Amino acid sequence: MNHFEVRGGELHCEDVPLSRIAAEVGTPVYVYSSATLERHYTVFRDALVEAGLVDPLVAYAVKANSNVSVLKVLGNLGAGADTVSEGEIRRALAAGIPPERIVFSGVGKTAREIEFALTVGVSEINVESEPEMKLIAQVAERLALRAPIVFRVNPDVEAGGHAKIATGKAENKFGVSFAEAARLYANASNHPHLNPLGVACHIGSQITDMAPFEAAFRKMRGLVESLRAEGLSVERLDLGGGLGVPYFNQPDPPSPQAYATMVGEVVKGMDDIRFAFEPGRVIAANAGVLLASVIHLHERPEGRKFLVLDAAMNDLIRPAMYEAFHDIRPVQATDAVPVALDVVGPVCETGDTFTRERLLPLLGPGEVVAFMSAGAYGAAMASEYNSRPLVPEVLVSGDRYAVIRRRPTYEEMLADETPAEWL
Ligand code: LLP
Repeated sequence: MNHFEVRGGELHCEDVPLSRIAAEVGTPVYVYSSATLERHYTVFRDALVEAGLVDPLVAYAVKANSNVSVLKVLGNLGAGADTVSEGEIRRALAAGIPPERIVFSGVGKTAREIEFALTVGVSEINVESEPEMKLIAQVAERLALRAPIVFRVNPDVEAGGHAKIATGKAENKFGVSFAEAARLYANASNHPHLNPLGVACHIGSQITDMAPFEAAFRKMRGLVESLRAEGLSVERLDLGGGLGVPYFNQPDPPSPQAYATMVGEVVKGMDDIRFAFEPGRVIAANAGVLLASVIHLHERPEGRKFLVLDAAMNDLIRPAMYEAFHDIRPVQATDAVPVALDVVGPVCETGDTFTRERLLPLLGPGEVVAFMSAGAYGAAMASEYNSRPLVPEVLVSGDRYAVIRRRPTYEEMLADETPAEWL
């Protein structure tokens, strides 16, 4: 459920008509609903608690939507943060999320980032490989402390979904194998500067089938049991993120309740473990839309109709990068007849196509559309490609809204560039 609905012929975010935001802030612009973010976090966590997990840490995956206000909304409810860079850790801290709720993941952490994470005192560093474990040990020795680490294990399951976002197969770059995990865990346990706390997995994103999750989680349970059988202490199990959301053209993913019930069954009896989860998309995707205005309709003589918008692939790259589907809705009711349209942006690439031959009302210049389900991996992946100013973001709460990231000016866009002195 989300808080984008049509009232009196106008698409609203909570109590604010989206046409008002488009008129006052300009387009393109992302708009997020605080109530939806809160609801999604609460539903996800409550479902886990109802399934019998004691005080699970729901570490929201910052990469999905890293705006500090979004992090604050979630942090205020008790969410933790799953981070993959110093920048993301800094964002989580800036949002008031305490370090003991911050997880530091990612395949290529630098010594500087590890030092930063250890110095601020993150809850755990998820180790992805043996060289990384060695680097963490070196940094921890230099800082004279014991680094809290969790081994990210690659459970080698096929999760379905788009190949570019599958992470849980042995052929992907993520995590260590089960055999390596056992060896590295034992080594780390004897290391004066490493404190192995547990194991983690994350098998992919936009997963709409429960079977791969269940297969992976059963393997993880087996791993915990075999590590313990070796006499090793395991107190944490991080089951990652990846739960899909309905994007209208895909099979309906399992509900958070169904997912949590499955988790509860798989981990039944593991009462002495602290569980962590890293959901991103399921919290943020349907809490946001991207608003864009029609520039014009370009009809080719052969008959194809291109609706050219002022938003482009640099603002929302998912269709270009993953052939992703986003529902597109006019923000004001219209009598215009639906026709098959190619919806495109102004960027000079054929890939700058949001959809082809979609039946949509034929809107005129200046009319505004909303790309639905754009709250995750939308603004977070935006760029200035084609020297288009970075897309701004707005947060709605009830009948008020705030610009939580403003559109930079052209002067600001150029400010960091220094022409080489010899030019
Ligand atoms: N944890 C780890 C270690 C991850 O790599 C990811 C996502 C997550 C958690 C959160 O996964 P989620 O719950 O959001 O599925 N840009 C792509 C998605 C990339 C996901 C990368 N990792 C997209 O737009 O579909």
